[in-house]
Amino acid sequence: MRTVEPTDDEAFANWFNVLQAAELLRDNEAATGWQPDEWRARALDEITPIQLLAWTVGDVFVAVAGLHMTTQDNLHTLRCDLYTHPEHRRRGYGRSLLGAVEGFAYERGRRELTCFSIEGAREVGQGPGRAFAKALGYELADDSRRFDIAWPLSRDQRDALVDRWSPFASGYELISWRGSTPDALLDQRSELAAAMSVLSPWANYEPEAERWDATRMRAHETTTAGMGRLLLVSVARDRVTGRLVAFSELTVSEVAPDTAYQWDTLVIPEHRGHRLGGLMKLANLDQLGSTGLEVRRVTTFNSNINEPMIRVNLELGARVHGAAVLWRRDLGPAL
Ligand SMILES: CC(C)(COP(=O)(O)OP(=O)(O)OC[C@H]1O[C@@H](n2cnc3c(N)ncnc32)[C@H](O)[C@@H]1OP(=O)(O)O)[C@@H](O)C(=O)NCCC(=O)NCCS
Repeated sequence: MRTVEPTDDEAFANWFNVLQAAELLRDNEAATGWQPDEWRARALDEITPIQLLAWTVGDVFVAVAGLHMTTQDNLHTLRCDLYTHPEHRRRGYGRSLLGAVEGFAYERGRRELTCFSIEGAREVGQGPGRAFAKALGYELADDSRRFDIAWPLSRDQRDALVDRWSPFASGYELISWRGSTPDALLDQRSELAAAMSVLSPWANYEPEAERWDATRMRAHETTTAGMGRLLLVSVARDRVTGRLVAFSELTVSEVAPDTAYQWDTLVIPEHRGHRLGGLMKLANLDQLGSTGLEVRRVTTFNSNINEPMIRVNLELGARVHGAAVLWRRDLGPAL
């Protein structure tokens, strides 16, 4: 196993080539998928840099991994993304790399490893990651579906949803922006990001609360911009208390805009039932429409147990187009 520096152009290109080949096989379509600069920017993130690792045979990169090196919280655990090049599968390289990753994690005090396997539209429930993770002793932590909303949304559909949902939300004001959070909202926006980490549902997984402050939020914005992505944000403010109670993020690559991605959405529990999730999503879709980018679809991932969010997405016209499964394994006793 070798480490790869995101600033080493040749090694990074070899690393990215493996990930991209795996993605193209999975989706078997003209989707552009991850762009190299997106992974490079994430690898250089100030707060949660991604450690790039590769399994090589001679000079050939056959399997790659990215480890999310948390620095503020969740130091007992480590999230890993792992791919074997389609031409080199079923030769034990994935197993070898995952074993080495476990050792890497353990040496750094991590006592749990989690890993997402993503499935394309044709392989929901039967992607190779499932058999692989089970064979290597991992247990299911969460099963989620990828939903796609065809874009653009029809004006009639959008207006009908706004008319139907708005009466529930008269006690709230929606605020939207692109890119940087306004300074006056930064602290509250950071608190909502921290709340997201414990309030989003997982079937069989309990991450520790994340620690967010203004510095981390600014790093998040900087990394997203470095990825070449526009960050479209909407929040809901309680008209009585003046507090932010909900947020939703939508992002789109300016260089490969065919698929916009829904990132986090959260309504804190006391303010649920007011259709804020759907209304914030619509506000971001309005922002997306004004970018002028040639978007074909909006993609979102929802845990199968997150019934309220799935219902909102179905009302927006979402259809299942894949899956993402989270696996976890205990690496040994805590120090
Ligand atoms: C999942 C993946 C990483 C496996 O990589 P690999 O190098 O082919 O895996 P290995 O050869 O080390 O396989 C180890 C064991 O996993 C199981 N396995 C792997 N792929 C399998 C498949 N397609 N069908 C059934 N079992 C499979 C087998 O038990 C295998 O041992 P065996 O070959 O001795 O029977 C690869 O298919 C891939 O990149 N998939 C897309 C990305 C992904 O899902 N990553 C998440 C992993 S949690």
